[in-house]
Amino acid sequence: MKFLRDRILRHQYHKMRAAVYNKYGPPEVVKLVEVDRPLPRSNEVLVKVYATTVNRTDCGFRSAEYFISRFFSGLFKPKFGILGNEFAGIIEAVGKDVTLLNIGDKVFGYNDTKFGAHAEYMTIAETDAITTIPNDVTFEQAAPITEGAHYALCDIRAAKIKSGHNVMIYGASGAIGSAAVQLIKNYDAKVTAVCSTQNVEVVKSLGADQVIDYITQDFTKIDQKFDFIFDAVGKSSFRQCKTLLKKNGTYISTELGKNYENIFLALLTPLFRGKKVLFPLPTIKKEDVILLKKLVESGKYKPLVDRSYHLDKIVDAYKYVETRQKVGNVVITLT
Ligand SMILES: NC(=O)c1ccc[n+]([C@@H]2O[C@H](COP(=O)([O-])OP(=O)(O)OC[C@H]3O[C@@H](n4cnc5c(N)ncnc54)[C@H](OP(=O)(O)O)[C@@H]3O)[C@@H](O)[C@H]2O)c1
Repeated sequence: MKFLRDRILRHQYHKMRAAVYNKYGPPEVVKLVEVDRPLPRSNEVLVKVYATTVNRTDCGFRSAEYFISRFFSGLFKPKFGILGNEFAGIIEAVGKDVTLLNIGDKVFGYNDTKFGAHAEYMTIAETDAITTIPNDVTFEQAAPITEGAHYALCDIRAAKIKSGHNVMIYGASGAIGSAAVQLIKNYDAKVTAVCSTQNVEVVKSLGADQVIDYITQDFTKIDQKFDFIFDAVGKSSFRQCKTLLKKNGTYISTELGKNYENIFLALLTPLFRGKKVLFPLPTIKKEDVILLKKLVESGKYKPLVDRSYHLDKIVDAYKYVETRQKVGNVVITLT
């Protein structure tokens, strides 16, 4: 044990490359620099990161576009320093109380409490959202498994999707939407996906029963009623979608809406009978990562990857993600 502890301590003095941001702002606030490697606490593992992603969560915390995010990431300046919530890599050291994971394990997961995956090394508690990589899956394929999928899972659970439900997913080509299409199909529900012309084929390939191209067709005019309308890109409104909902149907959006209306509607509409808006707060547990791993292994879920960048080009990756046109996920490689 002493040998192990000494080995861990030596890591503290080793340097690593990391994408660091010291102030909120545009992609250019992120700089590649050398910093000390983190040292795992007694309940943590040290992961050598082989792949990560740049996603809308990273963008939100980097830009602090919504002031509310500063209550988590620091009121005046960022307290994490290194972003990156999704990771895939190999465990290089473990704290003295770690029992579930071992040095050498190939792992993946999600860390939105400390972030830190935009670096060659990161630490995470072994009981947090981390597990071993699914069989026959590369680091680049494992890294994007969790972000979009865990937001989708939270919303699917809140909407209490059942077999036979009729569901509409607006924005089905994004990270959250593309995960939602696949995950909802596992509930044996009927999925109508909405996206632009260029993404119709890829969204069909995810298993959607019907795809509506919002460029050529007004999705609010279709002659169908839905149990659940999930706006995965936050571009619609409850008012716009209300006529498409069944009597007790649910509307969920990933965005706050105009003047934060989705928050107010989520507080008010459940008090009455009929159509309602929900705004569940996203959470992720170890069990969720294990569930996603099983779905990947059984071929029931495959994260959609748009493109990859090396860590050296992370500013370009941020710029691309902020076009809001990515199809699925943007992966960052570190090897
Ligand atoms: N603040 C945060 O921390 C945070 C974190 C995560 C997610 N979110 C929010 O969750 C939402 C989804 O995130 P994401 O990562 O899944 O998004 P994303 O991957 O960036 O979504 C990109 C997709 O959105 C589609 N899109 C763009 N404009 C559209 C429109 N007017 N109508 C329908 N689709 C449109 C595009 O496809 P088409 O060409 O097919 O339209 C594109 O494929 C975003 O609104 C994001 O802000 C916020």
